Amino acid sequence: MRKPIIAGNWKMYKTLKEAEELVSSLKRQVYDVTDVDIVVCPPYTALSYVADMLEDGNIALGAQDTHWEEEGAWTGEVSAGMLKDAGCLYVIIGHSERRQFFSETDEGVNKKIKAALKNSLIPIVCVGENLNQREKSLTFDIIKEQLTGAFKNINSEEIEKIILAYEPVWAIGTGKVATPQQAQEVHKYIRDWLAKNYGEQASRQIRIQYGGSVKPDNIAGLMLEEDIDGALVGGASLKADSFGAIVINSRKKG
Ligand code: PGA
Repeated sequence: MRKPIIAGNWKMYKTLKEAEELVSSLKRQVYDVTDVDIVVCPPYTALSYVADMLEDGNIALGAQDTHWEEEGAWTGEVSAGMLKDAGCLYVIIGHSERRQFFSETDEGVNKKIKAALKNSLIPIVCVGENLNQREKSLTFDIIKEQLTGAFKNINSEEIEKIILAYEPVWAIGTGKVATPQQAQEVHKYIRDWLAKNYGEQASRQIRIQYGGSVKPDNIAGLMLEEDIDGALVGGASLKADSFGAIVINSRKKG
């Protein structure tokens, strides 16, 4: 069985003091959880500070993006090696806000995945359609295009290290969560795509998170679906109570 993974994407929120409050309270809430992988993704400025707070615990650290080069004259950017050095184990790649507001392309996503893997970071690769695309019944076409672009020249050994996140853009930060059935349908599509391109074993093993308005009261319903293995949480990850409750309610039954 795939172990659930719940990741909190803090986006551009939290000063060091606020990060400290959130993490210390979260640690108290989830200290005994061992059957869910728990990840927090603070902004760059708080990474190494939070890393110190998480040492030897059951919460791992992730970043929200990376550059694809090791180092160089790239003002404002941060490399995967630097993220590793700051204590990260995970990195979110291809979030829809990066794609939408910072012109991130599938080609860029592909280069970033390679950089992350090279530095032993686990990429959380986001895919998802926007409302217009869904209304035109283009969801599967868009997902296929994003998967094909993201995983170009990624081999089967590498793909097994990756986490996927299906995040319908119309559900992010809108309060409009996809129904478990709507999400499952796309998760199944992604898993079938993985099977076709990388074989049954890889497709059975890879975890696929759902993201978009996940809250403590809708996570359990989502987790009941066969191909949903966790969540990438934005807004509800900013409070220890709600994020802790999502972690607890994500435990797979049966
Ligand atoms: P949300 O964000 O939970 O606030 O909808 C999800 C995300 O952007 O990963």
